[in-house]
Amino acid sequence: MSETSEPKRIVVTGGAGFIGSNFVHWVVDNRPEVHVVVLDKLTYAGNLENLAGIPEDRMTFIHGDICDEGLLDEVVPGVDAIVHFAAESHNDNSIADPEPFVRTNVHGTFRLLEACRRHGVRFHHVSTDEVYGDLALDDPARFTEETPYCPSSPYSSTKAASDMLVRAWFRTYGVKATISNCSNNYGPRQHVEKFIPRQITNVLIGSRPKLYGDGLNVRDWIHTEDHSSAVWAILTKGRLGETYLIGADGEKNNIDVLHAILESMDKGADDFDWVRDRPGHDRRYAIDSSKLRSELGWSPKHTDFAEGLKATIDWYRDNPQWWQGAKEAVEAKYAKQGQ
Ligand code: NAD
Ligand code: DAU
Repeated sequence: MSETSEPKRIVVTGGAGFIGSNFVHWVVDNRPEVHVVVLDKLTYAGNLENLAGIPEDRMTFIHGDICDEGLLDEVVPGVDAIVHFAAESHNDNSIADPEPFVRTNVHGTFRLLEACRRHGVRFHHVSTDEVYGDLALDDPARFTEETPYCPSSPYSSTKAASDMLVRAWFRTYGVKATISNCSNNYGPRQHVEKFIPRQITNVLIGSRPKLYGDGLNVRDWIHTEDHSSAVWAILTKGRLGETYLIGADGEKNNIDVLHAILESMDKGADDFDWVRDRPGHDRRYAIDSSKLRSELGWSPKHTDFAEGLKATIDWYRDNPQWWQGAKEAVEAKYAKQGQ
C-alpha cells in the first residue's frame, strides 16, 4: 500500500515538547498550506514558549490529554492526519516511577488509534530505536526494521507496546498507519534532564557534568531538524503499515560527547564527576537507515556533529530563561538517585 498523501490539517500530539515543537516549526516553515493543531497536556516537559513566533493562522493550540476520549472526539474529526509525539520520554524517570509511562505511552496511544479508527484518520507513530534493546560495543551490526524487539527499560517497553498496538490496528482494523523508530536527538529546546543539555547547563551554572557508569555507552546522534524532515517524508510518502528507522550515522560514546562539550566551553577534559550507572543501562544503539534513504529519498542535513553541538551550546548560553526554572528540580531529583 502507498496511498499516503500531503495532508492539509494535522494534529501534532506532544507539539509543545522538544521534538514535537521542532516538527511544528518545520511544518510551518516548509509547508505553507498546512494548518497544525497541537494537542499537548503541558507536563513538566511541555512548554508553550517552544511554539513562540508561530503565526495564529497557522496553528491552533489545545491543552489536553491524549487519554481523554471525549476530547479526541472533538479534535480528531475533520483532520487529515495525526502525528503522535506525545509521550513520557525520559528513561531515568521511568525507572523511578513507571506508571505515567504506561498511562501515556500505552493507553494514550490506544486512545489515539481508536479515535483514528472511528474517524478514518491517518496516523503516524513516532517511536524510538530503544525498542530493539542494545548492541555490544564490538558488534558490527546496526538495528534494521527486521531486528527483533527486546526493550530494556520501563520507558522503552512502553514504547515497544505502543508500536505493537499500531501494527495490530493497521492489520486488524485497517487504520492507515506508519511507524518511525529514531535514534537520540539533540538540538535546541531539549529538556535539561537529558544528557547533552544537562552537561551544558551544569557548566553554565558552575557545576560539574555527570557521567554514568564507565562513559563508554554509545548513542547514535541525529539533529532534531533531520528527525522532523524524516517524519514528514514518511507521513507523506511512506507505505502504510510499514516501519522506517531514522538515523544519521552519528554513533559516539558518551565520554567523547562530554569531552567535546567541555572543550567547546573552555573546560578541562577531567572537569566532570563519575556517578552511579543507570540500572539496565543499554550499551549501544546504532541505526541502519537504508530503507528510509533508498525508498523515500531522505537524507540528513546536519552531518557535522561538532558544528551542531556548538550551535546547541550557544542556544543554551543565549536562552537561560528557558531552562533555569527547571534546572534546580531536575538536579535535586538526580542527587537523590546518586546521579
Ligand atoms: P518531551 O518529553 O520533550 O516532550 C513530550 C511532550 O508530550 C511534552 O510536550 C508533554 O507535555 C507531552 N505529553 C506528555 N504526556 C502527554 C499526554 N498524556 N497528553 C498530551 N501530551 C502529553 O519528548 P521528546 O524528547 O520531544 O520526544 C517526543 C517523542 O519522540 C516521544 O514519543 C519519544 O518517545 C520519541 N523519541 C524521542 C527521541 C529523543 O532522543 N528524545 C528519540 C526517538 C524518539
Ligand atoms: O535512543 C532514543 C532515545 O534517546 C529516546 O527514545 C529517549 O526519549 C531519549 O531520552 C534518549 O534516551 P537515552 O536514555 O539514550 O538519553 P539520555 O539523554 O537520558 O542519555 C544519553 C546517554 O547519556 C545514556 O547513555 C545515559 C548517559 N547519561 C545521561 C545523563 C542524563 C549520562 O552519562 N549522564 C547523565 O547525566
